[in-house]
Amino acid sequence: MIRPATIDEQIQMSKLAAQAFTDDELFADVIHPHRQQYPNDTYLYWLPRLRQGWADPSNHYLVSTIERGNGQGEEIAAWAQFTRKSAKAKKETPAAPPVDVSDLPPNRAASKEYEDILERSYDSIAHEWAGPRAECWDIIWLATSPAHQGQGHGKALVEWVIEKATEDQVPSSVISAKGKDRFYNKMGYTIATSKAWEPESNPMYGLVEGGQFWWRESHLTTKPTKSQ
Ligand SMILES: CC(C)(COP(=O)(O)OP(=O)(O)OC[C@H]1O[C@@H](n2cnc3c(N)ncnc32)[C@H](O)[C@@H]1OP(=O)(O)O)[C@@H](O)C(=O)NCCC(=O)NCCS
Repeated sequence: MIRPATIDEQIQMSKLAAQAFTDDELFADVIHPHRQQYPNDTYLYWLPRLRQGWADPSNHYLVSTIERGNGQGEEIAAWAQFTRKSAKAKKETPAAPPVDVSDLPPNRAASKEYEDILERSYDSIAHEWAGPRAECWDIIWLATSPAHQGQGHGKALVEWVIEKATEDQVPSSVISAKGKDRFYNKMGYTIATSKAWEPESNPMYGLVEGGQFWWRESHLTTKPTKSQ
């Protein structure tokens, strides 16, 4: 079942993401070089970002759940953050003030140098969501718990955002982690543009191999021309 996530699920979602990205070149190797020593700290990367993201109404958090059986309630198998990017809304809605995360302990697994690498690289890639692609639905995060991968949860969540993009008649984008291109290609994200670590001035340059930008536009209806 796909449903909106609730605020009390942030910790569970953070721990799930930490597990899902445990072998990832960016979130494991670059951002969490001390994860072997402090394996229980890596969720502290995700939690402050979830808290901050929750404060922005353009972000949508969805979970895919399964029934545990024996009346034990449901379990979150996967979650996603989707953002409705809109140049107009950005202009009219002030950015959410920084959320207080001072109650959280430090993330000892993280690299001091690279923990904020994604945020620092944003200016280098912001051009992707401009011009005809300023209005779009972007897949920011998508994570299926390792125990539930290959069971259709990721697909169901992506189908949610595709439906929204179709309703709004806007393109949909994703930056694919290394090894995940074919998953997104199958879901119709087939237009490759830049890499999330380009150009050379990008602080992420040389750190990762993945990070392909993919766009899905095949759901957009085209108006017939007069000659048709
Ligand atoms: C990528 C990820 C979200 C896929 O989620 P999932 O729930 O395991 O995927 P699904 O079961 O919904 O798979 C849907 C289809 O994609 C295929 N697929 C899944 N992962 C794939 C991969 N890495 N490469 C190629 N195909 C893949 C499945 O076989 C399935 O094919 P089918 O419809 O023909 O049966 C999941 O592997 C994950 O969380 N990985 C770690 C975190 C991550 O990298 N997230 C993405 C960041 S961009």
